[in-house]
Amino acid sequence: MFAANIYKQRRNTLVQKIKVGLLFFPGNTEVPYNYPANTYTFRQDSNFLYFFGLSQPDLAAVIDCNTGKEYLFGNDADMDDIIWMGKQPLMQELAASVGVENSFPFSKLEDFLKNAQQKGQKIHYAPPYRSEIKILLHSLLRFDISQLKEKSSVDLISAIVSLRSIKDLLEIQEIDKMVDIAYLMHTTSMKMAKPGIIERQIAGTLEGISSSHGAPVSFPVILSMDGQTLHNHNHSNILQSGRLMVTDAGSESVMNYCSDITRTIPVGGKYSSVQKDIYNIVLKTNTESIKAVKPGVFYKDIHLRAARIVAQGLKELGIMKGDVDEAVAAGAHAMFFPHGLGHMMGLDVHDMESLGENFVGYDAEVTRSDQFGLAFLRLARKLQPGFVITVEPGIYFIPDLIDMWRSEKRFEQFINYNKLDSYRTFGGIRIEDDILVTENSYRVLGKPIPKTVEDVEKIME
Ligand code: GLY
Ligand code: MN
Ligand code: MN
Repeated sequence: MFAANIYKQRRNTLVQKIKVGLLFFPGNTEVPYNYPANTYTFRQDSNFLYFFGLSQPDLAAVIDCNTGKEYLFGNDADMDDIIWMGKQPLMQELAASVGVENSFPFSKLEDFLKNAQQKGQKIHYAPPYRSEIKILLHSLLRFDISQLKEKSSVDLISAIVSLRSIKDLLEIQEIDKMVDIAYLMHTTSMKMAKPGIIERQIAGTLEGISSSHGAPVSFPVILSMDGQTLHNHNHSNILQSGRLMVTDAGSESVMNYCSDITRTIPVGGKYSSVQKDIYNIVLKTNTESIKAVKPGVFYKDIHLRAARIVAQGLKELGIMKGDVDEAVAAGAHAMFFPHGLGHMMGLDVHDMESLGENFVGYDAEVTRSDQFGLAFLRLARKLQPGFVITVEPGIYFIPDLIDMWRSEKRFEQFINYNKLDSYRTFGGIRIEDDILVTENSYRVLGKPIPKTVEDVEKIME
């Protein structure tokens, strides 16, 4: 946990932005895996962590904007809890550790909120994303479950986004440390990627590295020779010499800050010349896009520039054709690069995504496109100092997508379909780094993880 005054300061700023009503933060609960007492690893809600720092289940917090008073609701451990889980801090101690003066048993929450509602006070809450919290909100506020999202507070969402988007030095240090753990994970993956190994042997090792340094991985490990499937969680392939392997994996710190890194490596240690050609286009897109990061630039423009580098590179290989700018404007490159260039990262690996992607990545200056590919861009708005973002271009050869577009004769003026037959088993390549937007430019976070052809091949020797 950070010092209590950090949470206090964050809450004060939040209250100054919202001014009226009650701010209600339900913390997460334990969630059963296959029977009630066998639970998933507990993960606290990120807004709760940001404003209240406490990572225990079954808590809720309220801030009264009118009086400035803050309340923590939760129950002290009873003897049964202590027998099974060990001695727990008292609620009053937990509250004091994050600068909250008032603590009450959880059973008092319902009346507390009902009184506020009866007095006509607005109760601001963020959109719930877990069933347990939806049921709690429904029973406390008596809103229909289907209406909970639309009744959530846009004022609260906007205020949280404005605060959490800008990372302070302590947060950046946490993320830096987690990219260093990702360094260990990815260099291990490179060293283990020998023909005959099953993907899950590597994926499991990476999970262990993350857990042994902090918390479990920041998202389920994506590790596959079938890298054309963007988020492939199947780890059952036996590695074959000559194939590529995508590893997209990151770690989460004890304080729940994340990293998110992707590398694509040749099983057995050497890229073929065909692989190198595509790899170097993705690498150039990654490095050029990172260099373009600075305050005041729309991330959408960096994304579109990345798409042009991809299209230009593929044109030079004879895979695409025609005018590159026209191809990108039409969205033809999205056959090969069908996702966005990146997203915000922090306490969530896709930071604040539960609040709504458009609130996080878009604003009055830039609205979301509905074009295939560009529509998946999670972050489009102008960059600001303190943003932590990913830059993660890729090129993929997705046989089903190729077949569909080919049968529709889509973008025949920009895509050489005949050239694609030899790429049907190529897979995909993605290279992802985590970047801090600084006062004037950028900094790549953490210890540099090999990504040039030479550096990757060297570590795999
Ligand atoms: N790890 C998922 C992503 O890169 O966004
Ligand atoms: Mn990733
Ligand atoms: Mn990512």
